[in-house]
Amino acid sequence: MKLGFLLNGENVTMEVDPARPLLDVLRLDLALTGTKQGCDHEGECGACTVLLDGVPVRSCLTPVGKVAGREIITVEGLGTPDALHPLQEAFIEYGAVQCGFCTPGMLMSAKALLDREPDPSREEIVEALAGNLCRCTGYSAIVEAVQAAVCRLRGEDEETAGQEGADAYCGPIVGGNALRTDSIDKVTGRTKYAEDIMKPGMVFGCVLRSPHHHARVAAIDVSEAEAAEGVIRIITAEDIPGENGLGDYSRDEPVLTPVGETAKMKGAPVALVVAGTADQARAGAEAIEVTYERLPHVFDVEEALGEGAVPIYEGGNVLTSEAEAHGDLEGGFERSDVVLEMTYRTAFQEHAALEREALLGYLDGAGRITVIGGTHEPHWQQGYIAAALALDPEEVRVIMPPTGGSFGGKQDPWPFVATALMVYHTGRSVRLVYTRQESFDASPKRHPYRVRYRLGATRDGYLRAIHARVDANTGGYDGHGQYIPNYALTASGGPYRYEAVDAYAQSVYTNGPKGGQFRGFGSPQSMFALECALDELAEQLGEDPIGFRMKNRIDQDSISYLGYPVAESLGYREVLEAIEPHYRALEEAAAAFNARQAEGSVRQAVGFAGMWYRFGKSGSLRIEAHAELAEDGHFVVYCSAPDYGQGTNTAMAQMAAEALGVPRASVFLLIATH
Ligand code: FES
Repeated sequence: MKLGFLLNGENVTMEVDPARPLLDVLRLDLALTGTKQGCDHEGECGACTVLLDGVPVRSCLTPVGKVAGREIITVEGLGTPDALHPLQEAFIEYGAVQCGFCTPGMLMSAKALLDREPDPSREEIVEALAGNLCRCTGYSAIVEAVQAAVCRLRGEDEETAGQEGADAYCGPIVGGNALRTDSIDKVTGRTKYAEDIMKPGMVFGCVLRSPHHHARVAAIDVSEAEAAEGVIRIITAEDIPGENGLGDYSRDEPVLTPVGETAKMKGAPVALVVAGTADQARAGAEAIEVTYERLPHVFDVEEALGEGAVPIYEGGNVLTSEAEAHGDLEGGFERSDVVLEMTYRTAFQEHAALEREALLGYLDGAGRITVIGGTHEPHWQQGYIAAALALDPEEVRVIMPPTGGSFGGKQDPWPFVATALMVYHTGRSVRLVYTRQESFDASPKRHPYRVRYRLGATRDGYLRAIHARVDANTGGYDGHGQYIPNYALTASGGPYRYEAVDAYAQSVYTNGPKGGQFRGFGSPQSMFALECALDELAEQLGEDPIGFRMKNRIDQDSISYLGYPVAESLGYREVLEAIEPHYRALEEAAAAFNARQAEGSVRQAVGFAGMWYRFGKSGSLRIEAHAELAEDGHFVVYCSAPDYGQGTNTAMAQMAAEALGVPRASVFLLIATH
């Protein structure tokens, strides 16, 4: 059907299937990639919001036939770097942009609100943005930015001070309110995330995954799939030229489950299909016939550790463990006036970064296997790909584009290796994008913990003994679960003094989703349990929660929970002292609120939790960067720390500028994007 519409002030006429989603037409046919896709064309995330005759609509749910003769505005039509809309300016200045993947949709919803209501209340702003999900900012900065834009559009000064550009600073750059180096591109829709980068002749990959939690792959028949329309290549485990594994990232996880082996979680990959279109690749995957022999499965650690438990691996269901013991434990409990026994459990947690796992692979001009995708560790991904393809690492290149959030999830090398395999076997440019459902099913999750405590303390409020047992559920595969006990154990005692310690943590296989990195890797679950237990104990002892922690904090000369003296600077006492007045003020405010609401059902309370955190994996933590002076007077700084939305690029440029004593604009950061 031929149809016309007004797009960002320009008349567009095109021949198009009227049923196609407007989102796909904008992104794929018209190359307007500022509008994003975060869900499966279900209108769930709001990233695809555009204005249709001034009304915000989900372009993923809008058939393009509906826009005939009407006006569409996308983020590209809102403002340009030289002429930003006040909303775009405010988003930059108020730190409302982090990874930026939600930003275009958020801006369009905000614009629609301000066009119809020039003086919205905070509640109206929140309501107008309620359908736009953001995984990075926590929303407060976004709402403040919209409030600031309201003032500017009315020609008023907003009360909250905006931030100044770092380049305006003469004084220290580190610690200043630097604007992000990437925010203008993010608010104008110019940032190119992996899915926004196209290649001519690009073909599409799809993954066939096990539908069972635990099953032996008895046979794979690809004959029908190979004959399916558009299918270019089917890849199974026997087509992997090198190691069918993910190296030390996940020491027992195959890239593809071979015939005769067991798939150990729902979503375990069995085959890859490359086809001319995404739909053809999906149909090809559905046409593969896999014969499974289903096996019994377990989901929780008690079952997996129990007598007669389903053996998931020949060596048993424990992956790794870590133990620490010092002092006279039984004596410590005997000297205690109160002994508390508690068990805490946490659940699997999904990162749900707004940008799904999206990659583009191709052969570069030198014939190198090249993969573009968001990750934390492009250099490690290069190594895993090279090992799977039996290539020299020099024959593989990984490029990290701006990334729409990760929180640890995109550390998984699997999609990189899979994309490289598809390029290797086809010689074509291949796009692999997980569906949101697939991302939920197959991406790594935060490890669920069972944490059991026995804690003893004397009546005067001092901790004496701690017995801690942590069982971390690493799911069907290692996925870095090998490192978890170390983090889990360290965090299970926190920055507190004990006379005696007996702690043990283990990673346990189940048939749940594979574990992996998630903010705070391995620590928050233990911290949550410990701090809850300390509150329980403080209450039993009649101690104030913050005072109880102050009494038991470690200092510079203490023996730590891990049994060695605290050698490095610490600062927990200073933190507690700094927080206490605010804590007391909040306690008073909550008590006053509750007194006023004596008849109501809402109550306020104040909580406090402390933590310590171990950095890095075992071994030394070596971090380096290099700088050189370019002929034009800029400093070129080589730095491999990747920015997946958290602002590393800005922070690294700030640190380099301060160290070199030059304005930030004089620093050119060469990162994994290049
Ligand atoms: Fe909103 Fe990242 S800034 S999802």
